Amino acid sequence: MLIDDQLTKKNYQSIVVLTGAGISAESGINTFRAADGLWENHRIEDVASPQGFYVNPDLVYRFYNMRRQDLLKAHIQPNPAHIALGDFERKFNGELLLVTQNIDDLHERGGSGNLIHMHGELLKMRCQNSGEVFITRENFDQTTVCECCRQSGNLRPHVVWFGEMPLQMDVIYQTLAQCDLFISIGTSGNVYPAAGFVEQARLAGADTVEINLEPSAVNSYFDWHIQGKAGELVPDFLTQLLVAEST
Ligand code: OAD
Repeated sequence: MLIDDQLTKKNYQSIVVLTGAGISAESGINTFRAADGLWENHRIEDVASPQGFYVNPDLVYRFYNMRRQDLLKAHIQPNPAHIALGDFERKFNGELLLVTQNIDDLHERGGSGNLIHMHGELLKMRCQNSGEVFITRENFDQTTVCECCRQSGNLRPHVVWFGEMPLQMDVIYQTLAQCDLFISIGTSGNVYPAAGFVEQARLAGADTVEINLEPSAVNSYFDWHIQGKAGELVPDFLTQLLVAEST
């Protein structure tokens, strides 16, 4: 892989990595914006908005139960990009924050620890009464009794839907404000606020790199563009950053 010499010779101290559905594509999880604009055959607003949940909760529960069952199938495993990010976190001497828009757990399984799921997590459910979050690998729906309030009908997927505030934005913006390298992997740059992170990083004076199958909607904000599959490009790219750090 050809990476600009300027980039891999720098000794970065604080790196923010943003990932999107593209990093999990090679693990067998479909991206959101396929050519038909549907998410697993559903209109995104039907299954990923508070209005959709209000109108047809059964559909929404069924939808996320199926996504969770799919995620837990034996053949869905972290790919070399997830694993390389986990390795990089262990070996890099500076600060690394990984922010993912993905609701799967493949980064955790790839070894990443300092990780924010800004759009929530498929393996969690939340009580709408208390806000308490519970880990689940099982199906749940309107009939499931909540552990905290002992009532049914209060649990919802711990997933951020359109029109809702993504999670831990204060930490993300604070870290972006002092990072010196921002790397975006496998995201189309269509959904804000994540699509705006590159501008925040630039304001902080950071170098910016996009690794994606195709130019994203915010491609012009990046200093470097590396086009291709994350599973093939990310391991080599991160190795080069580590080599630069040690020389
Ligand atoms: P998208 O589906 O919009 O974009 C995925 C991007 O990954 C596209 O630009 C693809 O070209 C690229 N891609 C596909 N395969 C790849 C591969 N093997 N290697 C590298 N890149 C690849 O997904 P996101 O940008 O993550 O939000 O979508 C952002 C948000 O929109 C999601 O988190 C979700 C969705 O609606 C919520 O649900 C709130």
